[in-house]
Amino acid sequence: MYKILKAGKLAGNIYEMVVEAPRVAKRCLPGQFVIVKMDEKGERIPLTICDYDREAGTITIVFQPIGASTEKFTRLQAGDSFRDFVGPLGRPSDLCTDDLEEVKKKKILFVAGGVGTAPVYPQVKWLHEHGIEADVIVGAKTKDLVILEDKFRAVTGNLYITTDDGSYGRSGMVTKVIDDLMTEEGKSYDVCVAIGPMIMMKFCCLTTKKYNLKTIVSMNPIMVDGTGMCGACRVVVGDEVKFACVDGPEFDGHLIDFDAAMKRQAMYKTEEGRALLKLREGDTHHGGCGNCGGDK
Ligand code: NAD
Ligand code: FES
Repeated sequence: MYKILKAGKLAGNIYEMVVEAPRVAKRCLPGQFVIVKMDEKGERIPLTICDYDREAGTITIVFQPIGASTEKFTRLQAGDSFRDFVGPLGRPSDLCTDDLEEVKKKKILFVAGGVGTAPVYPQVKWLHEHGIEADVIVGAKTKDLVILEDKFRAVTGNLYITTDDGSYGRSGMVTKVIDDLMTEEGKSYDVCVAIGPMIMMKFCCLTTKKYNLKTIVSMNPIMVDGTGMCGACRVVVGDEVKFACVDGPEFDGHLIDFDAAMKRQAMYKTEEGRALLKLREGDTHHGGCGNCGGDK
């Protein structure tokens, strides 16, 4: 059992929890995720790691309820426990595993949107701890939905907050800030990391393509087992079939067909959709979801 030490609301419908998971905290790196199960019969929910404390043996997760299981998570309080807390899963961010001296030469821009702001924080924090200051754009619909502002201010001197309605910080979506920084404000970057809703990552990639700016995105398709077996998280990157849980979740955003990824995400939710995907995807469908008959 994994004890919840702290549970509460960060903003709007966004929740934060600090969970006692020493083995995960000891090994995890920015970019990785965990799969959490509330009880024996609970659904397996993938959640990105927002922060970790190796000494205290804790992991901070941030989530937005989108189904029955995550809705039940919101009712948990400090003192309650998760049945399973599996991780760290996925590959760590390249920026935290590449040669440090090479990373130090890079000018890095992070673009964080909505709940996707949570997985951006550990990367910026890790870079700051290793002497690298990155620029960070944080976008939210309104002032009330801006999260982790103080934490980001502690790890970067260049934080650009923007709200869609202009109620706080700059006005407009994150893509407008990318354009403003790179044109009117004369900034240039070697790499951009964009994490948020799929539609945001799509438009960030279209924007950065104009500047020939390499862009990494973190894909969060539906996941079931998180071990590369079930095929649920299949993504096409360039001409290659990848599985976000083991090959990602970070990929070169300029190689992703976001429209196809969003369409697949919607299709995977229905039995008929999964049956059609099984036909189209052949061997790479895997069928381990147990719903489409592919594993029978
Ligand atoms: P949101 O809809 O509030 O959007 C956040 C910001 O993204 C906006 O303020 C805006 O600046 C930008 N954005 C949105 N649409 C855009 C567009 N068309 N063009 C340019 N910029 C755009 O975000 P939310 O409600 O917090 O998002 C929830 C979604 O985020 C869920 O679907 C969840 O699955 C996803 N998510 C993704 C990750 C990840 O790792 N990629 C992590 C957590 C959550
Ligand atoms: Fe990635 Fe199953 S969740 S293959």
